[in-house]
Amino acid sequence: MTEKIKSVTGMNDILPGEAKLWQTLESSARGICEAYGFAEIRTPILEDTPLFSRGIGTETQVVQKEMYTFTDKGGDSVTMRPEGTAGVVRAYIEHALSAQDEITKLYYMGPMFRYERPQKGRLRQFHQIGTELLGVDSPFADAEVVTIVDRLAKAVGIREFDVFVNSLGTLEERRPYLEKLVSYFRASRDALCEDCQNRLEKNPLRLFDCKKERCQDVGAGAPLLIDNLSEESKRHFGTFQEALAKAGVAFKVNPRIVRGLDYYEKTSFEFVSDRLGAQSAFGGGGRYNRLVEELGGKATPGVGFGLGCERMILLMQEFGGTEAKPGDLRGVYFIGFNEIGLAKGRELMQVVRDQGLRAEAAYEPKSMKSQMRRANKLGFRFAAIIGDDELAGGVVALKNLGDGSQEPVPFAELAKKVSS
Ligand code: HAM
Repeated sequence: MTEKIKSVTGMNDILPGEAKLWQTLESSARGICEAYGFAEIRTPILEDTPLFSRGIGTETQVVQKEMYTFTDKGGDSVTMRPEGTAGVVRAYIEHALSAQDEITKLYYMGPMFRYERPQKGRLRQFHQIGTELLGVDSPFADAEVVTIVDRLAKAVGIREFDVFVNSLGTLEERRPYLEKLVSYFRASRDALCEDCQNRLEKNPLRLFDCKKERCQDVGAGAPLLIDNLSEESKRHFGTFQEALAKAGVAFKVNPRIVRGLDYYEKTSFEFVSDRLGAQSAFGGGGRYNRLVEELGGKATPGVGFGLGCERMILLMQEFGGTEAKPGDLRGVYFIGFNEIGLAKGRELMQVVRDQGLRAEAAYEPKSMKSQMRRANKLGFRFAAIIGDDELAGGVVALKNLGDGSQEPVPFAELAKKVSS
């Protein structure tokens, strides 16, 4: 036998059984984003490499180690997007969206690519749903995007999760703080793991992220950014929290939320569930007031979030979103025992489908038992049986697969009957 070809490591098929949950997640997200005034944007998967190195930060783990970067046939360096924000901001600048409205609210969904070590909830091709709100530096905008995630998680049945919020201050106020932080860590350099020793000079905030106990022990006494904020950043963070509380979002301030991408300033946040194991964050985001300028546009503040769809799907399964309830039975399955019965079934099926209702018909005349089994398996509410007696009488024998009752229904009344 010829050798089977498998999917690429870390890139999963989403099979029909699971796709239902994806549809629920995506349609809930669309509904909520649109209700909050966001419009959809779709940007390409491939972008010029400098978009991400400049946008996300050359010293970040994502840019240093995880990007799918290659040279295309024309000799240009391109990268499969590792996240959505940089591409959306590029499109915002390229199409001068700010000229249409001073405030721009966009949402997106689609695959992202990071060359990470695959494990539960961590893939090389994964999907994000995200929003970007550009043009205003308001704590109410920050609260708005966090509230969307809160409501979406609840809408898809994720009952328990933590919302951690933090303020990273602005670049200017971070600089003196980072000096303090580096000198604090330098004093205990030998106690740190090798990775953290390297991070120390390049990206000291990431030391808070290290999972190793020895590094966490050193980190426990480190100065915190939240204690070193300017009055303006403190006020922004305070108003953000008040707005979140008013919106009924249960959150906790966590000064250790530092995020993995360099573009954040002021508000940052993460949505976390301990049911996910090591990859516990199912969403995150924050404010980025320099990114538009960094990517060649005029200085424009922004805030947004990105959700990990695979992690949300795991949580939806965890909270029992998969069981089909009897109330979910829909539509009608046509059963026939010879070509004439099947032909009538196909004709009626078309009428029902043209009304936007779900219908299927047997493709071949099989036994009553095997056709009924299939109607049940597919989760139909009704089976419309068309034998010789029914053909002669101009009716189908309509069986309700939920309660087992059966009645004759004239062909002309069928569509109305099954839609009621
Ligand atoms: P991020 O925190 O890097 O932020 O990613 C957002 C979410 O994507 C994470 O919380 C996680 O659930 C999911 N995710 C990340 N990497 C993987 C992976 N390898 N496998 C599965 N899921 C993953 C961003 O990407 C920012 N663009 C969010 C943002 C939007 N900030 C402002 N606007």
